Amino acid sequence: MSQVITVISGDGIGPEITRATLRALEALQCDLEYEHVDAGLAALERDGELLPEPTLESIRKNGIVLKGPLTTPVGKGFRSVNVSLRRTFDLYANVRPVLSIPGTKARYEDVDIITVRENTEGAYLAADAMVAEDGSRAESKMIITRKGSERVTRYAFDLARREGRRKVTLVHKANILKAVSGLFLDVSREVARDYPDIECEEMIVDATCMKLVMDPHQFDVIVTTNLFGDILSDLCAGLVGGLGLAPGANIGRDAAMFEAVHGSAPDIAGKKIANPCALMLAAAQLLTHIGRNDEAGRLRRAIVATIGAGDRLTPDLGGDGSTESIADAIIERL
Ligand code: NAI
Ligand code: MG
Repeated sequence: MSQVITVISGDGIGPEITRATLRALEALQCDLEYEHVDAGLAALERDGELLPEPTLESIRKNGIVLKGPLTTPVGKGFRSVNVSLRRTFDLYANVRPVLSIPGTKARYEDVDIITVRENTEGAYLAADAMVAEDGSRAESKMIITRKGSERVTRYAFDLARREGRRKVTLVHKANILKAVSGLFLDVSREVARDYPDIECEEMIVDATCMKLVMDPHQFDVIVTTNLFGDILSDLCAGLVGGLGLAPGANIGRDAAMFEAVHGSAPDIAGKKIANPCALMLAAAQLLTHIGRNDEAGRLRRAIVATIGAGDRLTPDLGGDGSTESIADAIIERL
């Protein structure tokens, strides 16, 4: 039976890179069907809502989403659509792989790290945040639960096992944040005991930053809480040449959403020069998630080979090509 995927093209460069990515998926002939729905600015203009009900319904039904970047209108009291989607579908694990690609201006070669970030709690639950009326004081809660810590750590270890990886690093700050980070560490240690085949290491977040910059090759899979994961995953992207090649998956029990880490790039929207590789790599993550490992590998290898050959690349990769020209080069290599 063919799998149906909900596709949100997104705003800014979203439609351009989504079109290129869907062309690559079609060329792989992997028997997928696509249901196109709107969210973000496109939806606001058409339906007066950032997240219309038919979009939510489509995600509920299909459970798999390929999503272009969404613009959250600034200063109009709108909540981030990305955050709303994560909350609505309880997408608790944010999975961000970074991989050195030969031919890019990266700081390191042979880096291959997956950061798994808890996506629903920690410091990002702004519910009880407050600023005193005179502006002298602000307060915001950090919440860590056993359930949240357990499911994200389990996801990281299962991923490590599935992908034949050797080590998971638990990143924390339990020496200072004894209550919240301490609970995360306790729970994740318990989970680690169920995976004797995977090496488990513990590391304090500040030391992790230093070690990532000095010798990233010692890392394999990292699992951590929301705020630390947000920062570490961008640091990891920086090690391999920035956000242009960084995909991310948001995984929940009933739904999974795959996207590029970058935003809608309004400065280059419509200029036909946006780099589609991050979204294509997200599509490869999607294919792996639904068990199409063979197609995922073919897509990844074609992207890496195209960049390595410097073939028809977009300006951000140092070429003078376009979204369509790099897509053509990748598709020819499939
Ligand atoms: P951005 O990632 O859109 O752009 C930052 C810089 O990187 C810009 O110079 C842009 O031209 C460049 N860039 C980004 N993606 C590129 C690509 N594929 N190819 C070539 N160059 C690329 O970040 P910014 O400007 O902070 O945010 C713009 C909008 O995107 C905002 O409305 C923000 O809320 C939204 N956003 C959405 C995200 C999502 O949907 N997951 C994530 C981040 C931001
Ligand atoms: Mg971030």
